[in-house]
Amino acid sequence: MAKLWEGSFHQQLDSVADDFNSSIRFDCRMAEQDIKGSMAHAAMLGARNIISKEDTESILTGLEGILADLQSGALAMDMTAEDIHSFVEGELTARIGAAGKRLHTARSRNDQVAVDVRLYLREKAEEIISLTAKLLEAVKDQALANAETIMPGYTHLQRGQPIVFGHQLMAYAMMLTRDIGRFQDAARRMNQSPLGSCALAGTTYPIDRHMTAEALGFDSPTRNSIDGVSDRDFAIELCSAAAVLMMHLSRFAEEIILWSSWEFRFVELSDAYTTGSSIMPQKKNSDMAELCRGKTGRVYGNLMALLTVMKGTPLAYNKDMQEDKEAVFDSVDTVIMCLKVFAPMVQTMKVKPENMLKAAAGGFIDATDLADYMTKKGIPFRDAYRMTGDLVALCIRKGCTLGELPLEEYQAVSPVLEKDLYEEISLNTCVRRRISFGGTAPDSVREQAAWVEEFLKHV
Ligand code: ARG
Repeated sequence: MAKLWEGSFHQQLDSVADDFNSSIRFDCRMAEQDIKGSMAHAAMLGARNIISKEDTESILTGLEGILADLQSGALAMDMTAEDIHSFVEGELTARIGAAGKRLHTARSRNDQVAVDVRLYLREKAEEIISLTAKLLEAVKDQALANAETIMPGYTHLQRGQPIVFGHQLMAYAMMLTRDIGRFQDAARRMNQSPLGSCALAGTTYPIDRHMTAEALGFDSPTRNSIDGVSDRDFAIELCSAAAVLMMHLSRFAEEIILWSSWEFRFVELSDAYTTGSSIMPQKKNSDMAELCRGKTGRVYGNLMALLTVMKGTPLAYNKDMQEDKEAVFDSVDTVIMCLKVFAPMVQTMKVKPENMLKAAAGGFIDATDLADYMTKKGIPFRDAYRMTGDLVALCIRKGCTLGELPLEEYQAVSPVLEKDLYEEISLNTCVRRRISFGGTAPDSVREQAAWVEEFLKHV
């Protein structure tokens, strides 16, 4: 396909260089945004009498036809075009003749591409927000169903204190609420129209940037034409929000993988979200969770790639910036895929309360509560801590839990220790008493879930 810029060139672009330079392979996905941007631009040119009413009409009808034909499949993308902008303009001119050549008045591909990417990413941000909300809902529902399911809480992957499974899940729910906030922020800041920045300096034509901004649903036009065509913060911010979200999914995935192992057996994933082994018939592998964990790497990589592309580009547009698309598209695609598989995986995950309870009963996770009990009986905390340590060591020697250790052994340590200690250190008591704001008590988990339900109403 002929180039838009051939005018002053005497020799054709080398074919390898042409391939290298062309972006249609990946920017063709912005066809709809490119056409809508062009329609807003043409309507504005007509309204400002920069082009005639007839030309405006024929451009608008032509563009509508191209969009409809692309959507129906009647028109195929010409992959020899340099980019989506050249393709649409070329096709328009082929369809309507001379009027098509007027479309690019008071515009450059520099502001055009900046508009297209913003329009495209704005939609993707919305999609990610609604998929994250679905995952959040699934996590919250599992948390509510497990508000009383006792399990060990860990630090250093060592059993630490008893918690309920719902509390652990609500920790992930809180992360997801922040993720939604990050995407909302990025989408809001992104929502400014660079259209009319032209190549870099604005234009002498009497254009109306407010009109095009409004027609395309932007909050306002960008305030500086150089910044309008040079800024890729919006893509970087989206990649950054995606990287943080993936970090959360990856941590969650890691726990799900551990919990599904035979060593833990806290949960069982549905067959629909696991795979078998081609050689080991007993295996049920958490491939979806592992892939989400693994794909986090490429999403981090995309963020780093974009930051690096932008760090040395002088103002205004440079071709380096064409590199923004593959990185940010890959990040949004990856995040969307991961969220689509993660939500139903969590929803269909079967919890095994008996195994969680068994794990919670071992590991002396009621030791903190025993020390607290002693403190309430007047023993200074440091002494209580040491005495509890001695009792744990005794239990290890005897092969029993603190709850099974006979009262005589406690009283040998201190006569203030009485029968009521067994109730005090029971796992049930331990979790029910942790009613401090945001603590693990079942009622606190239900409160957190209610807060998330309210949050979801405003997403
Ligand atoms: N394909 C280009 C990009 O993605 C479009 C803008 C081209 N502008 C130019 N001055 N060559 O950045």
